[in-house]
Amino acid sequence: MEFSPKILVVDDEEGMRFFLSEALKKEGYAFETASDGREAVEKLRSGEFRIVLMDIKMPRLDGLLALEAMKAFDPDLLVILMTAFGSKKVALETLKKGAYDYFTKPFDLDEMRIVIKRAAERCRLQEEVKRLHRRLDEETPVILGMSPAVRKVLDRVRKVADSDVTVLITGESGTGKELVARAIHRQSPRRDHPFLTVNCASIPESLLETELFGHEKGAFTGAHQQRLGKFELAHEGSLFLDEVGEMPMGMQAKILRVLQEREIERIGGAKPVPVNIRIIAATNKDLAQAVAAGSFREDLFFRLNVVNIHLPPLRERPEDIPALADYFFRVYGEKFKRKATRLGDQIRAWLVRQRWPGNVRELENVIQRAVVLTDGDVLDLNDLRDAMQPVGGIGQEQIPAGDLRSQRERVSSDIEKKLIEQALAEEKDHRSAAAKRLGISRKHLYNKMKKYGLV
Ligand SMILES: Nc1ncnc2c1ncn2[C@@H]1O[C@H](COP(=O)(O)OP(=O)(O)OP(=O)(O)O)[C@@H](O)[C@H]1O
Ligand SMILES: [Mg+2]
Repeated sequence: MEFSPKILVVDDEEGMRFFLSEALKKEGYAFETASDGREAVEKLRSGEFRIVLMDIKMPRLDGLLALEAMKAFDPDLLVILMTAFGSKKVALETLKKGAYDYFTKPFDLDEMRIVIKRAAERCRLQEEVKRLHRRLDEETPVILGMSPAVRKVLDRVRKVADSDVTVLITGESGTGKELVARAIHRQSPRRDHPFLTVNCASIPESLLETELFGHEKGAFTGAHQQRLGKFELAHEGSLFLDEVGEMPMGMQAKILRVLQEREIERIGGAKPVPVNIRIIAATNKDLAQAVAAGSFREDLFFRLNVVNIHLPPLRERPEDIPALADYFFRVYGEKFKRKATRLGDQIRAWLVRQRWPGNVRELENVIQRAVVLTDGDVLDLNDLRDAMQPVGGIGQEQIPAGDLRSQRERVSSDIEKKLIEQALAEEKDHRSAAAKRLGISRKHLYNKMKKYGLV
């Protein structure tokens, strides 16, 4: 349906309101009336009016003052004033104060029709511009943060975007890996082509191959027709291999071949098909460690990790929290029609003190939940505490939501570190012997030692 702006008619004379109402009705406009400036300003607070048709001389709040109040409330509002005096001077004054147009009374109906039509047209344009901006905003990932770490990430994104170099994005869950992958694509020459994602962890191994490589008709029972895989569907665009650390060994070899040869073979296909894509991969695993442990191919690791972009956990860059929190608060505030646009300082300080084991995603979820659950327009600490509580769970102050995992990780890291130190001490820093004692490879041990700062 075409966008039709709603009009507010403001005049203290009932006869005039009636006359204007009839005229607008005939033209099919949606409108309401108000009998003085103050009532008009009140009604505008609903935010549903885009055009105001208003008399200048009115009791209580006269037109010129009402105009100022209206423009202060909504600068995009199109206010058309009506003056009975036919005085050019007053009319010009109204334009200076931000009126869109004016009539002099008694006025010509045709003239009025044209002016209103022009205003409606203008509203439609404003709407279109807003819509386009919204679309651009949706498509362009916003990466917020002013910490040195985030600035470094953004700098890397810019540097790698215009080449086809393969990028490996690493970082804990929820740190923004996918966001960065999209940002690289959006800034690359491939931006007008597809950005496709394959989540290597969520697709069973048996389906992953079809998903990536596609198959020919009749390649196996049930393959009734040809199906293209993501390598081909992403033609000229980017393919995002998410959670690449979960890729089964057999698939790793196949992916490696694609990276080397730049061609694929569909399942059941007789000839190779060239692929023209950029690969971006992400993982929350320590791939070097997976290589050492023998669960990830070293050659594939090197092929993927041409450039590494690492996203540090949120707790290591607490200075980013306020901006992120304000941003999510504004986004969800708009979505759920809350009026406040910024969080109070006390709340921001509290948010900065939390550990955020689920990183930015957890922060986003907590704020979204708090915005939904709060009764007023302003969030308070209790809303946030409620929002952080796992459903039916334990209070945040004792165990932060979702933190069991990081607690477990911390505890097992501590124990592991102690055991390594012990083994090294007992073997007089002889690494091969210590590794043997620990039942891991020398390389694995070395990586662990690096991780724990023992090198
Ligand atoms: N710097 C940032 N600025 C704005 N939004 C961010 C930022 N970092 C993360 N987000 C938001 O946090 C959420 C999680 O980000 P994303 O999905 O990219 O994380 P991820 O690292 O891929 O997580 P996972 O490993 O769990 O898949 C998204 O909604 C994303 O938009
Ligand atoms: Mg992700």
